Amino acid sequence: MTGGLYAAFSPATAHETESDTAKIEKGRELFLVGCSSCHGLNAEGISTQRDGQQYGPSLIGVGAAAVDFQVGTGRMPMAQPGAQAPRKTVAYNEEETEQLAAYVASLGAGPAVPTESDYSIDGLSAEERQEAIKNGGQIFLTNCTACHNFNGSGGAMPRGGYAPALKGVEEKHIYEAMLTGPQSMDVFSNGNLSPEQKRDVIAYLKSIENPTEYGGFGLGGLGPVSEGIFAWLFGVGGSVAFAIWIAAHTTRSKKGKVEA
Ligand code: HEC
Ligand code: HEC
Repeated sequence: MTGGLYAAFSPATAHETESDTAKIEKGRELFLVGCSSCHGLNAEGISTQRDGQQYGPSLIGVGAAAVDFQVGTGRMPMAQPGAQAPRKTVAYNEEETEQLAAYVASLGAGPAVPTESDYSIDGLSAEERQEAIKNGGQIFLTNCTACHNFNGSGGAMPRGGYAPALKGVEEKHIYEAMLTGPQSMDVFSNGNLSPEQKRDVIAYLKSIENPTEYGGFGLGGLGPVSEGIFAWLFGVGGSVAFAIWIAAHTTRSKKGKVEA
């Protein structure tokens, strides 16, 4: 009897059977409150120029994956218009994010949220994982290092933006970033980089999160610039200091002083 009463009064059952239309409707309500001020009442975009920036782009056809990425990483709702929508505390729970995504997906066809079988590397055997890391490293070097640095530590972009560091980003969000190309990042559609190649990139990025230290100075792993500066300051600088020291200790320089 207790079980029967529980089943009758438990509110959870209502959620589980929530139909797609109800989800879309709830998503629309959330959207009107939290997003429409920038993206328009029907997500058609608002192109009011403020400080030369578009206020909020149209979301028709960006797909559920873009919403899941933007809202799931806290980028949206954007706090104020600016050069970059940075990561921040996530404002919506999983259910609400799903509803927002369903609403935007209902406006026009776009990439769907990837499933765990697309992005998860947990199911790979040790050898498969090695193979994936190797392939992923190649793909990363050719497609991503220009902006994110060979080590995934990020870098500056034109017009005040930046490509963020890629350490500690959730697997799903890495996949979605490739799929939707946020801001000035290129879009790597599934025709461009197959789902398997995307998963390989994820395996590679996860493998460099905790790199083995081989000793010596890491110099922050920032690549040629920091290494070059180090070489200049300590290598060339040291040589110059040594040359001055030699010049100051030769008989000729002493003789010069005597003559003066
Ligand atoms: C203060 C204004 C503002 C608010 C509020 C806002 N956005 Fe945005 N949104 C922007 C701007 C500007 C961009 C484009 C720049 C960027 O991607 O960083 C954007 C981009 C996006 C994109 C990426 C579109 C693409 O082409 O991939 C999505 C998805 C999105 N917003 C969803 C939302 C959702 C959902 C909400 C509400 C929870 C929301 N936004 C609230 C201003 C806003
Ligand atoms: C043209 C430059 C560019 C290229 C090439 C590029 N990215 Fe990005 N990437 C960016 C920028 C800029 C952002 C930040 C977007 C934002 O904050 O809205 C970004 C964001 C990301 C994020 C989100 C990080 C976070 O903190 O949530 C991931 C993951 C990512 N990129 C992965 C990749 C991978 C993998 C590749 C190669 C397949 C790649 N990117 C290629 C510029 C680039």
